[in-house]
Amino acid sequence: MASERPRSLTDSHRGGQCPVRIDSAEATTGRLGAVLRAPRGTGLTPLGPHGPWLATDLATARRVLTDAAGFDFPSTVSRGTDMSASTGESRTGHLVYAPLSPAQVARGREVFRVEWHRALQSAAISATGSEVEAMDLLRRPVARATCSAVLDLDGKARDLIADRVLARIDALAPVISSRHSPRPWSRARRGERRARAALEESLADLLAARDTDDTPPVIGNLLAAGIQCRSRRGAWLLVFPATHPDRGVDPDHAAWESLRMAPPTRVTARVTTAAVSLGDAALPAGAVVPVSPLLLGRLAALSPDQPVGLEEFCPERWRRDDVRPGARLPFGAGAHACPGRALGLTMLRDLATWSGDQRLALSAPVSIDQSRGILPSPARITVTPPTQ
Ligand code: HEM
Repeated sequence: MASERPRSLTDSHRGGQCPVRIDSAEATTGRLGAVLRAPRGTGLTPLGPHGPWLATDLATARRVLTDAAGFDFPSTVSRGTDMSASTGESRTGHLVYAPLSPAQVARGREVFRVEWHRALQSAAISATGSEVEAMDLLRRPVARATCSAVLDLDGKARDLIADRVLARIDALAPVISSRHSPRPWSRARRGERRARAALEESLADLLAARDTDDTPPVIGNLLAAGIQCRSRRGAWLLVFPATHPDRGVDPDHAAWESLRMAPPTRVTARVTTAAVSLGDAALPAGAVVPVSPLLLGRLAALSPDQPVGLEEFCPERWRRDDVRPGARLPFGAGAHACPGRALGLTMLRDLATWSGDQRLALSAPVSIDQSRGILPSPARITVTPPTQ
């Protein structure tokens, strides 16, 4: 009998060699597969006899994310125990972040451009093609660009904070990915606390010298969220085009399509604050309602007239002016929508512009790591610069 490997999402053909594959999100098991296999477009789908109730169409998802009176942000959605960033602006006291300003976005974009160039130089990409690990290559440029944008800082002080945010993200990984929430004195929790304290110490020194109400936990969380999201998104944005034979793809279309295929927030959730009627469903108070930008991205109604199936990477599907790619909520909606949307999109477009000028090919089959969002694993790519 043929071995049962997940069906390929896309193939990369390199000089007539065997295709290198990205595993299909649809074929995965675990929570990702469960979300994608839920019946679509029916409003709410109970995932168990007593919930949670998954939002499976756009109107329901939007209502859940934007109706602040009926739905609240659950404080336990991540395993972070620290709610000190809380200022009581929303019911659970979860902080509401202001969007980054155009000046912050411009600063972050410029630093990303410089640092990406530097990373490519240190990867010594040769004219005949070099193999890189996309996640590794992106980490520093993304971290430094985000710190410059948020903190208006450069040089060694910025680089130290960027390294400490990366250390915090790395230390948080075993906490988030472990099957059961680790105990307070476990090695994982202690490591995470140490990394957070080191980051907040540097931020405290910086903020003390400025006239600001921002606190180290607030800024630390903002930086970690932004850096983590963009490194992953950037990695997918290099992995997917490596499977796409067409050159001259519109960078904007490539960025939106990569967000559709693998949004960093595959699922978020809200909790009802009282009994709520939603479509045909009557939800009790305290009901958990997950919303999945990943699932919304697989709704044909939100991206009609498909050239190929929705499980395929196909930037051309965004060519039509009457189709709004952002409707699938890859940046969320409502009070807790992403404050870094403009910076995230700008960087993705710039990266797509760069990748459109290269020849990219996958060097190894890509699996989907679901332990912390959706990561390409490994994200090894052969980059061949254009011939002069
Ligand atoms: C392509 C890049 C990005 C994507 C797709 C993205 C996506 C998202 C989504 C979907 C949410 C809402 C989660 C929810 O409702 O539970 C979110 C929240 C958030 N994002 Fe982003 N993000 C990106 C980049 C960034 C950047 C660059 C920053 C900061 C510099 C950032 C900071 C945050 C923060 C702090 C939150 C939490 C907001 C809250 O809880 O009120 N993100 N992001």
